[in-house]
Amino acid sequence: MSTERLEKKKTIDLRKKHIGPSCKIFFSHDPIKIMQAKGQYMYDEKGRRYLDCINNVAHVGHCHPDVVKAGAQQMELLNTNSRFLHDNLVLYAQRLQDTLPDKLSVCYFVNSGSEANDLALRLAWQYTGHKDVITLENAYHGHVSSLIDISPYKFQHSSDAEHNQSVHVAPSPDVYRGKYRADHPDPATAYADEVKDMIQGVHEKGGKIAAFIAESLQSCGGQIIPPPGYFQQVAEHVRKAGGIFIADEVQVGFGRVGTHFWAFQLQGEDFVPDIVTMGKPIGNGHPMSCVVTTKEVAEAFLSSGMEYFNTFGGNPVSCAIGMAVLDVIVKEDLQGNALRVGRHLSSLLEKLKEKHPLVGDIRGQGLFSGVELVKDRLKLTPATAEAQEVIYRLKEQYILLSADGPHRNVLKLKPPMCFSVEDADLVVEKIDQILTEIEEALGLKLHNGSSVENESSKRKLPAEENGHQCLTGIAHNRGSGQGVQQTKRLKT
Ligand SMILES: Cc1ncc(COP(=O)(O)O)c(C=O)c1O
Repeated sequence: MSTERLEKKKTIDLRKKHIGPSCKIFFSHDPIKIMQAKGQYMYDEKGRRYLDCINNVAHVGHCHPDVVKAGAQQMELLNTNSRFLHDNLVLYAQRLQDTLPDKLSVCYFVNSGSEANDLALRLAWQYTGHKDVITLENAYHGHVSSLIDISPYKFQHSSDAEHNQSVHVAPSPDVYRGKYRADHPDPATAYADEVKDMIQGVHEKGGKIAAFIAESLQSCGGQIIPPPGYFQQVAEHVRKAGGIFIADEVQVGFGRVGTHFWAFQLQGEDFVPDIVTMGKPIGNGHPMSCVVTTKEVAEAFLSSGMEYFNTFGGNPVSCAIGMAVLDVIVKEDLQGNALRVGRHLSSLLEKLKEKHPLVGDIRGQGLFSGVELVKDRLKLTPATAEAQEVIYRLKEQYILLSADGPHRNVLKLKPPMCFSVEDADLVVEKIDQILTEIEEALGLKLHNGSSVENESSKRKLPAEENGHQCLTGIAHNRGSGQGVQQTKRLKT
């Protein structure tokens, strides 16, 4: 076990003093100090083991020895920029291309998901000569200025909103809570028609569409799985308007969905984006990312006459690491594992839904799952505070999970890909216990299998807008001593 250099309190004090206060920390009243990690486990300063259900960056497992070795060996030899010829760069580009449809053949290596999406926008603007971008409700695509503009997840709640007039927000293709739901005869067409109408509106105002950008499965947006056929239809409308389709695979790529290597492939073989952006899992924690596009788009970018240079993008160490990640995915059949464990997890979660009134929806693909908690299955009232309670109580049992989505009421599972059937059993068993206790405390019961009867329907469960507030009702039911503690710990 690695040794602690500072006492936890000192680490907290120094962080408060020197680290920007908007850099949020998990569980702020009692943050976790992680010293070491391996596979799907993280260890704190006391050697306590946490089951990691949220770190999709540590894709092939934390500190995978093959990845560490590949990076260290290359670092001993050489690390420099891509202005020199190096085999790692071209071999890695070729390896990535092998996982993609043929026409996506040209790579730009960059350093973060944000850099990848920012470059994707530049490519789209240059290729099309147009400016307008369509993004989805609740989307998050990165932290740089150009991406905050296309990330309603960030800007939709901000009060000083002077939003970029060339950005247009289409409805999220959410068939549970969205505008067109599972009972709609053709939600894919209905959502795609929204984009078509939006394009027409842009044209009427003299704008021209450069790109439609979407995560292949929305993650921060609430683990949303778009209905099959939606992307094909959107791509048709967007291309007809002279724009291109950018698939953001920063969260969901590299085999996580189990059946396919890329999540956009879930839409069907007839769908190929014009640009794919990659990040997080690509380097298993090493900061690297990539934009892959077509020859035509890359040539148009060249024609601007501006050189593209990136000091660190595509350096030999990053490429060695990227190749090791691809090797481990194959060697350990992690895509297959995502499929098998993902199916097992889904069936366990479905049973939770049958049992617990708070569980409104279960959705997912492979090791990318969402459990949407609602206080009322008919009205879909988000159970935001309850979701926070689940997260906190799991942490006390050494399981790391998070809640996201516009109402912060969707429990997100996106663990390292070595997550096992036993890990799935454990996390679902704990969620089951916690939900049982919360429902007992709230007097919630399943009624006729679908609606939820709340015996204390007048009791309000206040939640701050960000969803990180106390569960007053539960705390009162448990006794005042616990209530105080509850109030404190639910502030993240
Ligand atoms: C879908 C998506 N795209 C892009 C990004 C930005 O990536 P990064 O934080 O590496 O800049 C994120 C980060 O969370 C993301 O979730």
